[in-house]
Amino acid sequence: MTMVDVLEMPTPGKRGRVERLVFRGIVFNMSWEDPEMDRRAFQLTSDDTVISITSAGCNPLNFLCAGPKRLISIDGNPAQNAVLELKLAAIRTLDYETFFDIFAARAPQVACAVYRAKLRPHLSEPARQFWDGNLWMLRRNLYNFGRMGLACRLVRMLLPVLGISRARTEQFFELRTLAEQKEWYDLYVAPRLWGPVAERLCKSRLFMYLCGVHPNQYDLVHDRHNIYDFVKERIEYVLTKVPIYDNYFLSVTVTGKFRGDRVPPYLRAENFQTLRDNLDRVQVVYGWLGPFLDTQPESSINRFNLLDIFDWMPPDVLEGTWRSILRAAAPDAIMIFRSGSYQLDLPDAIESQLVSHDGLASELFAIDRSATYGSFYIKSLKDAPDSRPTHLLNGHGSRVAAATAVGVS
Ligand SMILES: C[S@@+](CC[C@H](N)C(=O)[O-])C[C@H]1O[C@@H](n2cnc3c(N)ncnc32)[C@H](O)[C@@H]1O
Repeated sequence: MTMVDVLEMPTPGKRGRVERLVFRGIVFNMSWEDPEMDRRAFQLTSDDTVISITSAGCNPLNFLCAGPKRLISIDGNPAQNAVLELKLAAIRTLDYETFFDIFAARAPQVACAVYRAKLRPHLSEPARQFWDGNLWMLRRNLYNFGRMGLACRLVRMLLPVLGISRARTEQFFELRTLAEQKEWYDLYVAPRLWGPVAERLCKSRLFMYLCGVHPNQYDLVHDRHNIYDFVKERIEYVLTKVPIYDNYFLSVTVTGKFRGDRVPPYLRAENFQTLRDNLDRVQVVYGWLGPFLDTQPESSINRFNLLDIFDWMPPDVLEGTWRSILRAAAPDAIMIFRSGSYQLDLPDAIESQLVSHDGLASELFAIDRSATYGSFYIKSLKDAPDSRPTHLLNGHGSRVAAATAVGVS
């Protein structure tokens, strides 16, 4: 049975009024971290215990496809865990085609026919409370709802107004070479998209909060890089330097749908039985990472998927959370995280205990299809060199070298 722990935990540090207002209910209707980067950074084995922030549950399920010994998925926002729980209940009780109909939004309305009889009995009380009142989101296509769903619909309304037609957009997702992408971008996007309208939208705190950018993260990116320049650089990079054909992040954003089987690993037919076989290895935790890790045995977790949570944190909470991570980290542990800024430095007291695998991190950052982040980090423990996983041993050169290679100064 999938374990669900609803732990009444202290929030680490004071949560601002805006954060409590914006970051409740479903914010992320999809996880915006490219699972291919995580897969290559972690190289999970059946001996590994992995902990991941839930967000929309996509990446925890992508990890489950690799058959880890134990998967802990944690989120401070109950609605995000409710999305994951519903996906887990669907994997447990539905056939693959119905699972795909709902969560790839091919025929989402079938959710209503199966919710009460099949899915609800496998949900925790908080998840039942959430879905009893919000099933309409699923019935009407989850990718149009939640804060991010709203933001994406705004983008889809704006593009034709700026002269980027739906037909042109559909054409773009079928391009198979970077040269064609660059030509298309220079012809149809750059001259139309970048200007006062896009600048106002990017600098609008409300719009950015809808996009899941935390208030602290907005300040971090805008103060350091000017958020409009940052968004422009990231989008131009992904539209011209990363193959668009299998970029489901942008397909869902700009067209509202996945394209055939160009979907995340957990939605692929070949992984469905593996997911079902591994359901009992999952623990869903309603709570905050730091306090939860302090309840876990020392040196018990091998892989940490931390998304961009550190961009949300004040310095004392960031350092406290890292101390909890270091305490729970097994000798062969790998921690991965992202940041909105191009460079996020950790406190010396923490960094001094870690090894940074900058070369591999930049190599993987270069293939990021999400266009969401400014940087990606892979860390392991300095004092356990002999336990370090082999794929991290063959130094991939420095961050500067690799960053220069992908044109980020
Ligand atoms: C950091 S956010 C960003 C997600 C990412 N940008 C995305 O699009 O998927 C992801 C999730 O982390 C959760 N979160 C943030 N800080 C956390 C913490 N310290 N412990 C547990 N969950 C946390 C939020 O509730 C949110 O659902």
